[in-house]
Amino acid sequence: MKVITKNTHETEELAHKLASKLRGDEIIVFYGDLGAGKTTFTKGIAKYFRTKEDVSSPTYAIAHEYEGDKLKIYHFDMYRITSYEDLESTGFFDYMGKGLIIIEWSENIEKFLPEKIVKVRIDKDPEAETRRTIYIEGIEVQ
Ligand SMILES: Nc1ncnc2c1ncn2[C@@H]1O[C@H](COP(=O)(O)OP(=O)(O)OP(=O)(O)O)[C@@H](O)[C@H]1O
Ligand SMILES: [Mg+2]
Repeated sequence: MKVITKNTHETEELAHKLASKLRGDEIIVFYGDLGAGKTTFTKGIAKYFRTKEDVSSPTYAIAHEYEGDKLKIYHFDMYRITSYEDLESTGFFDYMGKGLIIIEWSENIEKFLPEKIVKVRIDKDPEAETRRTIYIEGIEVQ
């Protein structure tokens, strides 16, 4: 599906809609440039599950864990992860199936991910500062 959001709030609303369809063991993979809104979308998902912790960009930590009311969220930034060994060392495979996994910057390790993933692509709009085109694949949202 394709959705256009006009501001951060609308992106978070879309994240809530997606979150409401999740079982809690999915892998969500984001695509989109720096500042596209991947972390903003993740915040929307975390809010839906009322996590105790605030979502922050995991760039320096690689992985963050949030505890929601009915599931755990494992939030990864794979920007510097380029090999299978690197990926293993993040704990990714241990977390699989134990909670909701959300990945930013997975381009380098895409080939190691399972086939069944939810893909969210966020495109900025050169003509409107706060407009995003968001494509969701791998799950029915509406
Ligand atoms: N429609 C929108 N949806 C999401 N974010 C928006 C929108 N309009 C403006 N923004 C702003 O764009 C920025 C998105 O930042 P965010 O950290 O979510 O991006 P990111 O894709 O995670 O970047 P990075 O690659 O650095 O991790 C925020 O400052 C947010 O307020
Ligand atoms: Mg981010």
